Amino acid sequence: MATLFDSLELGDLLLKNRIIMAPLTRMRSKQPGNIPQELNAEYYAQRATAGLIISEATQISPLAQGYPATPGIHSAEQVAGWKLVTDAVHQKGGKIFLQLWHVGRISHSSLHPKEGLPVAPSAIAPSGTVMNAEFKQVPYETPRALDLKEIPDIVAEYKAAAQNAKDAGFDGVEVHGANGYLLDQFLQDGSNKRTDIYGGSVENRSRLLLEVVDAAVDVWGKGRVGVRLSPYGTFNTMSDSDTPALFNYVFEKLSERGIAYVHVIEPRATNAGGGGADASDESVPSTSQIFRQSFYGVFISAGGYELETAQNAVENDLADAVAFGRIFIANPDLPERFQKNAPLNKYNRATFYGGGAAGYTDYPALLEGK
Ligand SMILES: Cc1cc2nc3c(=O)[nH]c(=O)nc-3n(C[C@H](O)[C@H](O)[C@H](O)COP(=O)(O)O)c2cc1C
Repeated sequence: MATLFDSLELGDLLLKNRIIMAPLTRMRSKQPGNIPQELNAEYYAQRATAGLIISEATQISPLAQGYPATPGIHSAEQVAGWKLVTDAVHQKGGKIFLQLWHVGRISHSSLHPKEGLPVAPSAIAPSGTVMNAEFKQVPYETPRALDLKEIPDIVAEYKAAAQNAKDAGFDGVEVHGANGYLLDQFLQDGSNKRTDIYGGSVENRSRLLLEVVDAAVDVWGKGRVGVRLSPYGTFNTMSDSDTPALFNYVFEKLSERGIAYVHVIEPRATNAGGGGADASDESVPSTSQIFRQSFYGVFISAGGYELETAQNAVENDLADAVAFGRIFIANPDLPERFQKNAPLNKYNRATFYGGGAAGYTDYPALLEGK
């Protein structure tokens, strides 16, 4: 029976354990230019004992940005900044994938004044408010629906970003298809009302995600590409009229491609990064139970896990590995704490986003020998 502390073959990689650091947006890149810096390298290196680190979501182009001070992977300065991070993680014996991100409609034109309105499959605004370039909450704008002619450019941007991630020394890439961002907006019919080959049927709505995955595989090979998905997640105003039909199709097509892994967020943690409650909502369906058998490769599960529940998921073969978000923010040495059954530091939500070292690199590790 597998445990969280066993190694895991994941595509071309051999992970030293099955404790994954979930992608976590922290809005601490250097300004101007959204450039990763030494502080970020220190933060990731502190967490290098994870079996795999998945970087915070990283915009593939200026228009792909949806929050202030999130890093990009489209300029030479950003590639050089990420090199600091990957070198620091590798020096500590860690492995790190970059999460490729386009936010689509979850954005505000103040974040990309030259490019203008956010883009989306259809001109439908999400409900609620968005953080503008000044870290202020303002109502969403109605996005501009992408023209059919523009879609190949988006795929090309993903491909260039995947190549930049390679140049920056990452071990692979994770395509962010979750949490109501651009690729998820195309997948789900609450946000996709297109009538061309990217809308309507499940096949059509999955087309952009699969084109992006193929572009990433062209650059990296299938053994170094993963995909993150969030079926049943409602974060960022998401909904679909037939979630099992949609995602079973997506898992089938990803299985055919033989990619390194899928990474699936349990909907009980749908608003973990927003202002939601810290406790998980257990009344919603379990995606690892529903979809585990639909994908033929490595299945990473995330969302509201603690040591015992994660161990149960791996032992009962509901997942090959488990990703931890909020408790990895607060516990840089999480695998060691799990191994020793040591108490965990508590996370402070007030310092999740923006700022400097406080609440970022100053969470203490266990004392030597304790
Ligand atoms: C501060 C914060 C930032 C997040 N940023 C991202 C992100 O950049 N990309 C992503 O896919 N998920 C992101 N998430 C979601 C987490 O990866 C994870 O799925 C969620 O926190 C649930 O796991 P947990 O209960 O272990 O925290 C974020 C969550 C938090 C709390």
